[in-house]
Amino acid sequence: MKSTILDYIKEIQESNIEQFKDRAAEVEQFRIKYLGKKGVIASLFEQFKALPNDQKKEVGQMLNQLKNAAQERIEAFKAFVEQQEEASASQHDLTMPADLAQLGSRHVLSVVMNEICEIFARIGFTVAESVEIEDDWHLFSALNFPPDHPARDMQDTFFVEKEEGRQDVALRTHTSSVQVRVMEHSKPPIRIIAPGRVFRNEAISARAHCIFHQVEALYVDEKVSFADLKQTLLYFAKEMFGEQTQIRLRPSYFPFTEPSAEMDISCNICHGEGCNICKHTGWLEILGCGMVDPNVLEACGIDSKKYSGFALGMGVERMAMLKYQIRDLRLYFENDLRFLRQFDNII
Ligand code: DAH
Repeated sequence: MKSTILDYIKEIQESNIEQFKDRAAEVEQFRIKYLGKKGVIASLFEQFKALPNDQKKEVGQMLNQLKNAAQERIEAFKAFVEQQEEASASQHDLTMPADLAQLGSRHVLSVVMNEICEIFARIGFTVAESVEIEDDWHLFSALNFPPDHPARDMQDTFFVEKEEGRQDVALRTHTSSVQVRVMEHSKPPIRIIAPGRVFRNEAISARAHCIFHQVEALYVDEKVSFADLKQTLLYFAKEMFGEQTQIRLRPSYFPFTEPSAEMDISCNICHGEGCNICKHTGWLEILGCGMVDPNVLEACGIDSKKYSGFALGMGVERMAMLKYQIRDLRLYFENDLRFLRQFDNII
């Protein structure tokens, strides 16, 4: 037994720190081997009990020495491992680029809406915004809608019961209501552009949605003429769709403008040759417009003998569809990152 203990003491003393590559795990293995409950030293102490008394003193001293040597080795290993880890931590390359943060991008509708506003800002229009929950007066009556007009129908409009018994409150069906709000509170000259969200009771499909966006423009001053409207439209079309763009106006009807027109632009995809997008006509319908009906000016407290104006309104989803050849309206609202990310580079 004495020689076995001496062998162990030698083994421990000679155990080589540098060979402990797997650091903490190897230190633990060493500890378990010698100092564990069923380890070498514990079993030697068991055997020690059976020794004749005259050998106990010498062997006991050696056993204690073995135990102390093992504990010392463990402390030394731990210190060595810690030192190694500290050294390797300071070797991290702090110039390595960090993981990229996921940046969001602006929604294509915001991009297009901002672009429209900027184009009008360059010719002196300022942005006006207003409420999305509107009353009948601002949505329809002040805009010269006759009492029996279908837009007032429950079929087309989401009515909201805002106050008990009050039935004339609805989610706005168009941004033309902002015209009324602005004219009621300001004096000509008025030059505003009103971007915003509108709501209509439509079934959702590739071409229609119950929530969409419009931009409205209004210009009221002395002697505003149809020629001013036409030139503004041409300027806008060229800025938005390119210098080569041509426009044409078709007579139309809106309750709040007289005369009224719809504007088409030359197809920016086939350039007039005929394609599926323009249904082989070479023209794309873009917006509604006209000279503000004198009844609307009067309803808003503006003298229609002194002042005249033009107004126009367009759908933002449609603008984006034509500009970026987006085929399905539902894509705008589905939050599919594969779709949304495509517009990162156009911000
Ligand atoms: N408010 C119309 C709509 O919702 C669009 C419109 C047409 C606005 C003609 C106008 C306009 O200002 O003059 O479809």
